[in-house]
Amino acid sequence: MDFEERYEKCSQLLHKYNQQHLLTFWGELNKNSRDKLLKQIEELDFKSLDEKISRYVKSSAGAQLPENFAPAPAYPSQPKTAEQKGKYAEAKKFGTELISNGKVAAFTVAGGQGTRLGFDGPKGDFAISPVKNKTLFRLFAEMIKAAGEKYNFQPRWYIMTSPQNHTQTCEIFKNNNFYGLQSRDIFIFQQGTEVNFSSDGKILLAEKDALATSPDGHGGSLKALFESGTVVDMKKLGIEYISYFQVDNPLINIFDPLFIGLHAMDNAEMSSKALTKAGPLEKVGNFCLADGKVTVIEYSDLSKELAEKKNGDGSLVFSLGSIAIHIISRSFVEQLNTGGFALPYHKAVKKIPHVDIRNGDKIESQKPDGIKLETFVFDALPLTKKSIILETIRSEEFAPVKNAIGTDSPQVAKKMMIDRAALWLSQAGIKIPKKPDGLIDCRIEIAPSFALCMEDITEKKDKIPQIKPGDTVYIS
Ligand code: UD1
Repeated sequence: MDFEERYEKCSQLLHKYNQQHLLTFWGELNKNSRDKLLKQIEELDFKSLDEKISRYVKSSAGAQLPENFAPAPAYPSQPKTAEQKGKYAEAKKFGTELISNGKVAAFTVAGGQGTRLGFDGPKGDFAISPVKNKTLFRLFAEMIKAAGEKYNFQPRWYIMTSPQNHTQTCEIFKNNNFYGLQSRDIFIFQQGTEVNFSSDGKILLAEKDALATSPDGHGGSLKALFESGTVVDMKKLGIEYISYFQVDNPLINIFDPLFIGLHAMDNAEMSSKALTKAGPLEKVGNFCLADGKVTVIEYSDLSKELAEKKNGDGSLVFSLGSIAIHIISRSFVEQLNTGGFALPYHKAVKKIPHVDIRNGDKIESQKPDGIKLETFVFDALPLTKKSIILETIRSEEFAPVKNAIGTDSPQVAKKMMIDRAALWLSQAGIKIPKKPDGLIDCRIEIAPSFALCMEDITEKKDKIPQIKPGDTVYIS
């Protein structure tokens, strides 16, 4: 099709869908810019556009809650009954076998921008470890390498970026020599994008020759895993399970035999780790059961009354929070993508710089008035035939780095990393110096190559130096 024909076709479609303003500056554009703009318009999914606008962009209703829902059941972090003890032991053994046989791959979603953290660059490049100042990416790489050595397999790491940080992320990996991993074992791919809208349903222009877009949310990972060829790569290598985690959590246990084993033994398609919420209104999603399906209801969508509802023993009815740690079966991703799946959108009202159609000026909005649409990965849970939840302990596995100060800040995460290291050491019988007020009086960091979990310490106890008050110790 030549240029004229393409323009005609786009123009007709845009008229039909009330988006003709996107060609306002056509007359001012050179050939390259015209081509760039047409390509973006040609890629728009016009069929779903009207529904997207009426159902999500213009609607002020929040997420559609299921009519009836109850708290979701979960495996406890420690087995309680004899039967459970037996199952956990079996699951650990099975999970270990699956890891050793190369059936499990690591998968980091790293497409978000570290806006709240105020960090300029991919969040994975943020330095977080308390002694060596290792970045999140370096820590994950070291965990993955150490798991490969521990379980004797060739680990593969998939990382999802977005157009905003893909090139930078690839450069960071290259500049750091892939943190000691083989470059061929790291597969970095980009997620998709969604166009941004004004509140009246008009697609915004970022430039006269470019639509305004933003990453399609971490739910987009389920599509991107397929469209990037990642699942084909996994299939070739015999990988069956995807260990999904966010770029912001330095305490992640990427290859957890128990979690992987339970998921596989129960024939689950997508499973989750959960923790007991710190309080009724903690800003994490709530695990619920609706129509027999595991469903996450975001904190903002659960009424205060339900969030605060208590059981007879004083515990919260909806006590399990989602921490965005999942095992996803590769076959589930394939099935979703071949069956025309679509996750619901969530609307976010943000400040989106855009071009003023009336005069071509750039508008930097003072208040949030642009609309971004995102999908969330946990919305795939109700689409599974089976989904299990394993409860975990916050101090062991969850210290997200999200905000510059306060809750979920680097300061808190560093302290949690020191506390966990101290606990692992003291459980192995190593004396940890404490201040009179009981606080730990040293700075400790354990290299993933030394220990990936508490049990690894016991075997290497003799190699740990004595720790004196005020010491800064790196155990490697
Ligand atoms: C998220 C979850 C929340 C959970 C918490 C745990 C949502 C809506 N909420 O909150 O239920 O308790 O994490 O830490 O997700 N990402 C992409 N592409 C995107 C958007 C995000 O890859 O388009 C990645 C980010 O890089 C990050 C992760 O997804 O690794 C989470 O994104 P973020 O926006 O920080 O989620 P939260 O609101 O913190």
